Amino acid sequence: MNIIESINGKTKVFGIIGNPIEHSFSPVLQTTLFKENNIDAVYVPFRVENEELENAVLSSLSLNIQGLNVTVPHKISVMKYIKEIDETAKKIGAVNTLKKIEDGFKGFNTDILGLEKTLLLNQIEITEKTVVILGAGGAANSAAVLAAEKKAKEIYIVNRTIDNAKRIKKLIKNDFKGDIHTLDFENIMDIKNPQIVFQTTSVGMGENNKESPVKNIDFFKNTEAAIDIIYTPWETQFLKDARKMNCMAVNGFDMLIYQGIASFEIWNDLTINNEKALEFKNSFEDYYKGKNNA
Ligand code: ATR
Repeated sequence: MNIIESINGKTKVFGIIGNPIEHSFSPVLQTTLFKENNIDAVYVPFRVENEELENAVLSSLSLNIQGLNVTVPHKISVMKYIKEIDETAKKIGAVNTLKKIEDGFKGFNTDILGLEKTLLLNQIEITEKTVVILGAGGAANSAAVLAAEKKAKEIYIVNRTIDNAKRIKKLIKNDFKGDIHTLDFENIMDIKNPQIVFQTTSVGMGENNKESPVKNIDFFKNTEAAIDIIYTPWETQFLKDARKMNCMAVNGFDMLIYQGIASFEIWNDLTINNEKALEFKNSFEDYYKGKNNA
């Protein structure tokens, strides 16, 4: 008989709550990061129904769980049940990371940190640039807050439902001095100099995987970088078109890894340097592509 020592009374417990949770990459990601950094911890996926969310958060505290990731559909509703919320997360209006503090959890949003690191490590500069955000859902919030924080020159929010684009404009307009324009996809060619383009809609995924929200590829004539939040398929039609027009094309996998690294850093009060983060990302990318034939 083999005696297994990898989990003992001192092992710290972390996890992820969401629904569904079965396809989450986070357990592999975080377990690897704990191991690589010699931290005695486990990371477990928990499927939590909406009506069980409050119970789940309170019980996690009782069980001395040190930190949780929060994913769909709980990123907004979980804020009701936590003790403190970090300022940027408050601005975005969603949290995806909980860290145990004195008598409750503190919430953070590492989606925006992941996006920031994605830009940094791909050497994409958005300060003083014309930034275009396609879509106006949860991920668009992070892109908009980041563009405002980084002092883009102007921001265009393009969305099918214009009211949702206006909601994002409202979210950032007090913190952003440049112009913020809202428009629908029919008028997208009116944007003459879309230097940095974030694609945050679900178009290009699943049944729509031959589609791009940008129908005319001349749109990318003056574009420097196109960033898609999607990573299945590995290269969306949007990214294929951007690449054809000689733009840098970055898919959502970088963001997935870097948001996880940012959560890991918050939980463990440490910083993973850029070189190491890139090395981790490349290893995860090789693994993921191998498993998914991407
Ligand atoms: P997430 O949290 O991942 O950003 P979301 O909040 O559901 O996801 O947002 C999805 C975005 O994709 C929305 O901006 C949505 O547009 P609407 O605000 O008009 O609903 C956009 N979207 C989804 N399907 C689309 C389609 N077929 N064409 C254009 N936009 C679409």
